[in-house]
Amino acid sequence: MSFASDLLTWYDRSARVLPWRGERDPYRIWLSEIMLQQTQAETVKGYYARFLSAFPDVMALARADEQDVLKLWEGLGYYSRARNLHAAARIVAFGLGGTFPSNAGELRRLPGIGPYAANAIASIAFGEPVPALDGNQARVLSRILAWEPVIKTPFDLLSPALELISPDRPGDYNQALMDLGAGICTPKGPKCEACPVSGLCSAHADDAVLEYPRKPAPVTKKAQDLTILLMMVNAKLLVRRRPKGLLGGLYEFVAVEGHFDDEAALAAMLAEQGFQGIRLIKPLPDAKHVFTHLIWRMRGWVAECDEAPEGFMAVDLSDLQALPFPSALRVYRAIADKSIENSKF
Ligand code: ADE
Repeated sequence: MSFASDLLTWYDRSARVLPWRGERDPYRIWLSEIMLQQTQAETVKGYYARFLSAFPDVMALARADEQDVLKLWEGLGYYSRARNLHAAARIVAFGLGGTFPSNAGELRRLPGIGPYAANAIASIAFGEPVPALDGNQARVLSRILAWEPVIKTPFDLLSPALELISPDRPGDYNQALMDLGAGICTPKGPKCEACPVSGLCSAHADDAVLEYPRKPAPVTKKAQDLTILLMMVNAKLLVRRRPKGLLGGLYEFVAVEGHFDDEAALAAMLAEQGFQGIRLIKPLPDAKHVFTHLIWRMRGWVAECDEAPEGFMAVDLSDLQALPFPSALRVYRAIADKSIENSKF
C-alpha cells in the first residue's frame, strides 16, 4: 500500500462530514475555501449555508451589492476576503462568461486566491494533482518525511508533496490531509495510535514526532556592556543623535563600551574619547534592554566635564522632552527628566 492509498482508504471511512464535501460546483468549492482561510470548519458551516441561499451562483454574487455581501460575512472577520470574493465573482461573471478558471495557475490570477487556495480549489473542483500546502499540511508532511530543513513557507515542501499526492483523487487526498492535520496529526498531542499512515511515518519510526517540523535555532543574542553617562557641561546635558543603523536618528547620552569597576579607568576612557576635566559624580542604577539580536547591559553615572568632543550637543534639561530617545535608554532618560523637578541628580 502507498501513502496516498492508505490515506484515502481512511478518508473514505472517516472523513469529517462537512457541507462542502463531495461538492463538484467550483463556485461552492471556491466559497468554502475562502471562508475556511483563518476560520474553523465548525464556524464556517452556518455562514456557508446563509451565503449560498443569498447568492446561489457566481452570477448572483457578481450582481450583489457589496454591502449585502459584507453583511453576510459579518462576524467571520478578515473582510478583505469578502471584498476579494465579490471582485473575483465579477471577473468570472462578466469577464470570463461565468466559467471558472480550471487550473491552479489561472485561479491564482483572481483576487483573494493565493497559492494554497488555488491548489485546494483546483484539486477539489477540477482534479488537478496539486497539493494544498498550508501550515497543517506542512506539519503532517514534515513528520511523514522527517523533513530536516526549517520550513520557511509550506511551499518549501512542494516537490515531495507532488510525489506523494494521489493523481487520481487529488481533491480527496488534500482534504484527507486536512482532516488528518485537524484531528490526528495535531501540533502538540498527535494521536499516532489512530493514524492511518503511522506505519509510513519516518518521524514516528524514530519516535520523534514532536520534533517535527524542525524549529529555527533560537536567535543567539549578543550581550553588549555599556556605561551610560548623564554628562553635564556648564549645567547642560550632553546628548547626540545616533547615526544610521541600530536606533538611527534617535538621541542618546554619552556612552562608552564596557563596564568599569575602577572609576579611574572610566575617566581615562572618557579622556581618550576627548572629554576634558571629567568629574564622576555618582553611579546610577543598572539597566538592561533586550533587542531582537542584542542585549544592552548598562551601568550608569552622573558626571561633569569642562569640554566635550565634537558631535555632542549640550541641551537644557528642560529641552530634553522634545528629543526622541529610544526606550532602551528609558531608565536614564527618566532620571534626567526627574532631575528637572529636583534641579539636581
Ligand atoms: N480547510 C481548508 N479547506 C478545507 C476543506 N476543504 N475541508 C476542511 N477544512 C478545510
